[in-house]
Amino acid sequence: MSSSRIPVGFKGLGTCVPDRVLTNYDLEKMVDTSDDWITIRTGIRERRILASDQSNSDLATEAARSALTDAGLQVDDLDLIICCTFTPDHPLPATACIVQKKLGMRKPVPAFDLEAACSGFIYGCSVGASFIQNGVYRHVLVVGSEALSRWTDYKDRNTCVLFGDGAGAAILSRVDEGHGLLGQRLGADGSGKDLLMIPAGGSTQPVTCETVEELSPFIRMNGNEVYKFATRIIPAVIEEALEETGMAPDDLDLIIPHQANVRILEVAARKLGVPMSRFVVNIEKFGNTSAATVPLAMMDARTDKRIVDGTTFALVAFGGGLTYGASIWRW
Ligand code: ACO
Repeated sequence: MSSSRIPVGFKGLGTCVPDRVLTNYDLEKMVDTSDDWITIRTGIRERRILASDQSNSDLATEAARSALTDAGLQVDDLDLIICCTFTPDHPLPATACIVQKKLGMRKPVPAFDLEAACSGFIYGCSVGASFIQNGVYRHVLVVGSEALSRWTDYKDRNTCVLFGDGAGAAILSRVDEGHGLLGQRLGADGSGKDLLMIPAGGSTQPVTCETVEELSPFIRMNGNEVYKFATRIIPAVIEEALEETGMAPDDLDLIIPHQANVRILEVAARKLGVPMSRFVVNIEKFGNTSAATVPLAMMDARTDKRIVDGTTFALVAFGGGLTYGASIWRW
């Protein structure tokens, strides 16, 4: 990272998950699955599900409010809102604009959604950070927020056991030299676009009675292929992001990964030569909340005092697209 840039880091964090808990035992009553299968194959024990009168922006707004409090800032101190999601309130307008309204902002700051699936929060932090590094803005709100239950087919055991709803927000601001963002690498491989997708509901296959009957507006996934991609890309992209910092994987105090499957993380830890104890894992209580998993895990690490002043950590994620990214930070 060029030293002429303004150093940027996390000034505040906040999260919000719905109250309703859906356990593996609840899923046993819905599809042909078992608590054993889900726990052993994925590490997930329960996930949170939106109430019928809640939406993505409700979670995102609550997480944003907590992050502002944590940062000691007022809502009108913000200069930009980025909402990372592929499960928005509506295709139009952007959920970020709804969050701006719900936060009660008076300032007409730019607000937009960013869709990079489960890599969304890492992409969003990269975009938000660049505005601060270049002196354009002072405080940027990045929210990873998902309402995956609205796009989950609860008759498909291949996917419905994996996903949950939740939101995590971060305020990015100037930090002291030597802290904050140290290195990053983002990428995408569009040749894997069909491996994880919502087939209908867009311009290729608009919503019709037929597509709804075929259950096409729900998440479809080739789990085995995504698994292979994830175990290859997580260690590779962390190594690439570390290149510009001059550090090695062993120099990382913590790795805060996208929470899709604990077995993916165990393989990645072995490949990196880093003990699993340095990975932050909270998949058992929230499942895969896509763009929200990384900030939810960051918050847990901070609450547990695994992140303190000076902690060096990697954020890493992969997801539909196929997208991926890693960034290296010092708190
Ligand atoms: N309960 C019981 N059995 C099941 C279930 C279930 N919920 N799901 C699948 N099975 C069965 C399969 O039908 C199969 O049965 P068969 O052998 O009779 O054919 C058997 O279990 C094994 O299935 P696999 O798919 O080979 O199981 P695997 O061990 O690969 O685990 C999983 C599947 C958990 C999906 C794994 O492949 C995975 O985690 N993949 C990555 C998923 C991922 O990371 N997604 C990212 C999403 S990110 C985003 O952008 C939203």
